[in-house]
Amino acid sequence: MVIRPVRPVALVTDEESLPIDWDMPLLLKACEVIGLKTDVRSWEDADVDWSRYSAVLLRSPWTYVERLPDFLDWCGRITAHTLLLNPLSVVRWSLDKRYLADLAAHGVPVVPTAFVEPGEDPSRAVREFLAAHPRSEEIVVKPTVGAYSKNVQRFARSREAEAAGHVARLHEDGAVLMQPYLPSVDRHGETDLIYFDGAYSHAIRKSAMLMADGTVNVPTLESRRARDAGADERAVASAVLDAAASHLGLDRPLLYGRVDLIRGEDGAPMVLEAELCEPSLSLPFAEEGALRFAEALAKRLEWRSG
Ligand SMILES: Nc1ncnc2c1ncn2[C@@H]1O[C@H](COP(=O)(O)OP(=O)(O)O)[C@@H](O)[C@H]1O
Ligand SMILES: [Mg+2]
Repeated sequence: MVIRPVRPVALVTDEESLPIDWDMPLLLKACEVIGLKTDVRSWEDADVDWSRYSAVLLRSPWTYVERLPDFLDWCGRITAHTLLLNPLSVVRWSLDKRYLADLAAHGVPVVPTAFVEPGEDPSRAVREFLAAHPRSEEIVVKPTVGAYSKNVQRFARSREAEAAGHVARLHEDGAVLMQPYLPSVDRHGETDLIYFDGAYSHAIRKSAMLMADGTVNVPTLESRRARDAGADERAVASAVLDAAASHLGLDRPLLYGRVDLIRGEDGAPMVLEAELCEPSLSLPFAEEGALRFAEALAKRLEWRSG
C-alpha cells in the first residue's frame, strides 16, 4: 500500500506566469487523482510559510529571469525549511548555460558553443568564432542566463558588427554564448524530451523560434506538437541526465528534467538546452505524462519519509 505524505506539496509559480503555465491544471488534476495534496503558491508571496510543505516543487516561477539573485536566495531559504525539487545544486547549475561546457566534458554531444565573458572584446570574439566555423552561414548570440528565447538572436555572417553589438549589449547583464545557427531546426524543429525520475515520459516537436527576418517567436502551444523521440535522441537525453547527476554528485535520478535537441547537418542530435529547474513540460500533448509526474513525485516523498 502506498502511504501518501500528510503535508501538502507546494507547486510554485508566480502571478504573471500562472496563466501561461499550461501544465499546471493537468498536474493538479493528476495529483488529485492519486490523492496527493497540493497548493499553488507564488515564490514572490512573502506571506507563505514554506515549512508547512512536505516539498516545494518549482513549476513556473518564470519571473525569476528578471530577479535571479532574489530567486536563488529564495531557493536557498526554502532548502533550509523543506525539500526543494529539483534541489538547489541542480537549480544553480542549470540556470546558467555554461553547464553546456560541463556536459561536453562528460562526452555528451552539445551544439558547438563559445562563451564570451564580460570584459572580453565582443568584436574579436565574434570574428574568431566565425573563423572557427567557416561553414556556418549564420550564428546565434544569447545570454548564458535566459529563457523564453529572450535576447536570443540570429545573425548572418555579413552582420558581424551587429552580432558584436548584441554581445556588447548583453554584457551589461552578464556572460554571453555564441553557437552556429543549426539550419535543420527550420525543417525539423527541435525535439524536447521530458523525463520523470530518470525515465523517458514523452516528447514534443517545437518549431524554430528565430526567423530569418530577425523576428523572435515565443514558444506558445501553437509552436508545439507531440513527437515520438528517436532512439538516438533518447540516448543523448539520457546521457545528459546521467552526466548532470554525476557532475553534481546526486545519489538518485532527477525528479524531472527536459532535454532539448536539434539535429546537426549529419543528422546526429545535439543538446541545445537542459531544463532542470522549472521546465515547461508540454503535458497537454501527453496527458498521461501528468500522472507519471504525480506518481514520481509521490514516490520521491515516500522515499524521503522512509
Ligand atoms: N544554435 C541554434 N541553432 C538554431 N536555433 C537555435 C539555436 N539556439 C537557439 N535557437 C532557437 O532559439 C530558441 C531559444 O534558444 P534556447 O537556447 O532554447 O534559449 P532559451 O533558454 O531562451 O529557451 C530555440 O528554441 C531555437 O528555436
Ligand atoms: Mg529553450
